[in-house]
Amino acid sequence: MSAAPTRRRSLPGDPAPAEAIARAIRVDQAGEYGARRIYEGQLAVMRPGPARAAVEHMAAQEKKHLEAFDRILVERRVRPTALGPLWHAAGYALGAATALLGEKAAMACTVAVEEVIDEHYARQAAALPKSEDALKTTIETFRAEEIDHRDLGLAHGAAEAPAYALLTGAIKAGSRLAIWLAERI
Ligand SMILES: [Fe+2]
Ligand SMILES: [Fe+2]
Repeated sequence: MSAAPTRRRSLPGDPAPAEAIARAIRVDQAGEYGARRIYEGQLAVMRPGPARAAVEHMAAQEKKHLEAFDRILVERRVRPTALGPLWHAAGYALGAATALLGEKAAMACTVAVEEVIDEHYARQAAALPKSEDALKTTIETFRAEEIDHRDLGLAHGAAEAPAYALLTGAIKAGSRLAIWLAERI
């Protein structure tokens, strides 16, 4: 008989301890919050038209992603990132700044962020143990939508943005740093 029946023990072949799962949920909730703020920043600047409609579509999906991770965070009693105020400000600033550079730069921002998130979600899903199948399905569903966002960005001329390589390189580096921080703080 187990002395602690309410506490799930690791099983052989189960590589992810509880803290690794908590980190994954923490960084994903932070990332989806950042995504929502990026699009809020862009929508504050963008004028009506096809590019804005695309951003509105993506923002609606990001809202669902965030709601899901907000729920998971509470259900699993995971501490949220302490850097919420930073994502709040930095996400919005990134969105507004890229949209001010133009619609194509706004789309380049999406392409850069989503490429990093695609890699991030793929790595996470692959590392999750069998016992986390529900979480894995959520991550894979969202990952597919993030890839759609990247494609939508490219379809709206992201690659024609001024200084595309420089812009996306900087945003990718920032996104990777944000992931690194949100996993830890
Ligand atoms: Fe998302
Ligand atoms: Fe997205």
